Amino acid sequence: MGISGRRDQEIYDVVGIGFGPSNMSLAIALQEHGASTPQHPVTSHFFERQPRFGWHRNMLLPSTTMQISFLKDLATFRNPASRFSFVSYLHASNRLVQFVNNQDFFPTRQEFHQYLEWAAAGLSDQVTYGAEVTSIRPVAESGDGTPDLLEISVRHGDGTTGVAVARNVVISTGLVPRMPQDVAADERVWHSSEFLSKFHAQAPQELKSVAVVGAGQSAAEITRFLYDALPHAQVRAVIPSYGYSVADDTPFANQVFDPGAVDEYYFGTERARDAFWRYHRNTNYSVVDADVIRALYQRSYDEQVRGSRRLHFRNLTRVTKVERGGDETRVVLRSLLDDTTEELALDALVFATGYDGVDPARLLGDFDRNFQRDTAGRHRVERDYRLVPVSELACGVYLQGGTEHSHGLSSALLSNIAVRSGEIADSIVLRRTERELESGRPVETASSAA
Ligand code: FDA
Ligand code: NAP
Repeated sequence: MGISGRRDQEIYDVVGIGFGPSNMSLAIALQEHGASTPQHPVTSHFFERQPRFGWHRNMLLPSTTMQISFLKDLATFRNPASRFSFVSYLHASNRLVQFVNNQDFFPTRQEFHQYLEWAAAGLSDQVTYGAEVTSIRPVAESGDGTPDLLEISVRHGDGTTGVAVARNVVISTGLVPRMPQDVAADERVWHSSEFLSKFHAQAPQELKSVAVVGAGQSAAEITRFLYDALPHAQVRAVIPSYGYSVADDTPFANQVFDPGAVDEYYFGTERARDAFWRYHRNTNYSVVDADVIRALYQRSYDEQVRGSRRLHFRNLTRVTKVERGGDETRVVLRSLLDDTTEELALDALVFATGYDGVDPARLLGDFDRNFQRDTAGRHRVERDYRLVPVSELACGVYLQGGTEHSHGLSSALLSNIAVRSGEIADSIVLRRTERELESGRPVETASSAA
């Protein structure tokens, strides 16, 4: 679209890419921002590629619980009086009293998902589902040629495309599944992120021999699930460590997820940042909640008492190769103990091998050249989560997630989303106010969705 064609087009203060918990939390922070009045709203719209709201749906296994307190919801740490708090949701669901009687800080993932769906329903006028953002392009509207607007290209589920225009974008597209090199997912080889839909596509009686690769939370939860759901099946856990390690959620270690830890990480020395990772990686990566470890060990011990075995743990073992042919899946395991290899025939193989971050350059394309990178090739990010431009830009690109190198361990988690979203909303509003003061008039804003 040419610049003249855009004269009539709405210009949002913010377009959010992805509508997971991070950008939902931002939608709420913008709505509740003191500067957002009916006369002069902070205008925003969000694009989500899923056809409806969903948060890691394929891992909504029975009995799995949240790894954070219910108070680390979409809003409470920023605004305890928010109507989008988990407590508000409980009240609206007539379950507040029962929740308190239950005396548990960690709801099931099912319940937290229901909370998020409830919040998403309250924000439905802010989001277009089935809409994948494919690129972000800068546009210079002012005379001096400096980009001051962003064109966001969107591909809708029905194949149509569109463009939205904004002064800022907030990229919050989450993580992508990580598979071992040369291993491709298919109907019998699954990544944990697609687990339930792939599992339900199979006839359970045909799954007589299954294996789960990895020693993180996803692997342990799926191993327990398969063991319980397939009482006739041999279940193998292929774990690279000697045994599952516990996720440290004790109070002192948990402080790494406090809002204050972000400042200490961001402004700390390289040595301090390194210490965060060296001492506290085991709060989140390749670790498992103690109750799940105990549940698995109990099943294994019960088998020893009964004298029959169908739950097998291959420790100090990594997958080196997968061969597929029709219904047959053969996996090659290498023992780290003595380097011997072993081949197994399986009906289904689950890789709970974790996730990678997504480089925002995928969406920014050539525009990415306008942003600074550090010596390790990572984007430089301001404390307010705005990408640092090579030279002054009137428009802003913010990240929610993908900032572990700059802002620390909570970047990919829920712990800090309420506070982080508030900081991003403050930054966007402050820059809008500065622009308005410079120009002497409120800048044009949108009133409805694209
Ligand atoms: P999230 O991944 O949730 O959302 C990103 C959204 O962007 C997705 O909905 C995606 O469809 C959309 N999207 C991607 N590309 C797009 C594009 N180009 N255009 C439009 N939309 C696009 N953390 C924690 O603190 N406590 C916990 O209990 C858990 N539990 C947990 C369970 C499981 C199974 C996993 C895999 C992870 C967790 N996590 C967690 C970590 C997890 O990263 C976190 O809970 C949130 O999902 C982070 O929210 P985001 O909105 O940042 O990403
Ligand atoms: P993860 O913690 O990154 O664990 C991945 C595991 O796969 C690691 O043990 C890794 O071992 C192993 N692995 C990788 N390649 C392998 C190979 N070729 N052979 C054998 N093992 C291999 O991933 P995750 O368990 O999916 O957890 C990701 C995030 O989701 C975490 O934040 C977690 O807390 C969260 N989560 C939360 C819940 C919940 O809330 N209930 C449930 C699931 C996940 P190495 O480290 O040695 O490579």
